[in-house]
Amino acid sequence: MSAPAKTLWDPLVRLFHWSIAFIFIANYFFNEAGDDWHQWLGYVAVGWLVVRFVWGFLGKGAARWADFFPTPSRLASHIGALRQGKPFHRMGHSPLGALVMILMMICMLLLGVTGYMMEEIDYFWGVDWVETLHGWIADGLLALVLLHVTAALVESYRLKENLPLSMVTGKRRPLE
Ligand code: HEM
Ligand code: HEM
Repeated sequence: MSAPAKTLWDPLVRLFHWSIAFIFIANYFFNEAGDDWHQWLGYVAVGWLVVRFVWGFLGKGAARWADFFPTPSRLASHIGALRQGKPFHRMGHSPLGALVMILMMICMLLLGVTGYMMEEIDYFWGVDWVETLHGWIADGLLALVLLHVTAALVESYRLKENLPLSMVTGKRRPLE
């Protein structure tokens, strides 16, 4: 019989996750580029990043930076497992997953910074390279998000566990 599911992702991590996922999708695909909604949602995302950054020190267990920070040795062991075709199961972020998570967070922060430069700093108003950079960072983030979602689905198949659902309920099957 399999062990009962254990709460892994606390409510703040889950709320953070689905808020930034929603904001990314809204700002990339739906609202008019640069309108008021776009700007405010972008700033809300930056606020969430600050909260999540601090929570990585104040929170417990799998929310903590120390639990999952992708150090070279952790990355090497994850890559080694992938090369041998073995599933990499741990209660928390995998090292490569955490690397992509950090890159996505940096992209979101840079979107906030370049957006602020375009809108609020007269010196950069109408300056082409800032707008171009904002667009490139947004496209880079889209590529990372696609990689992230694909990895979540592939790993769910390999581990026979619904990982996206765990970001909704917070629960994951403990390691055997
Ligand atoms: C989640 C964060 C954000 C995402 C995913 C995002 C994404 C995008 C995308 C895809 C475009 C179209 C780029 C293009 O046409 O090449 C755009 C344009 C724009 N964004 Fe953002 N953005 C974000 C945050 C912000 C913030 C915080 C601001 C300002 C405070 C902002 C201001 C603008 C403006 C003014 C444009 C229009 C630029 C132009 O005229 O070409 N964005 N954004
Ligand atoms: C659309 C934009 C998205 C962004 C920017 C994003 C970003 C993130 C971030 C930053 C984390 C780390 C959460 C934390 O510890 O605080 C994370 C985790 C996670 N995300 Fe997303 N996400 C997005 C969409 C999705 C979608 C659509 C799914 C479902 C298919 C998903 C599934 C997951 C899962 C399963 C985890 C936990 C990863 C693990 O087990 O290591 N994400 N995501």
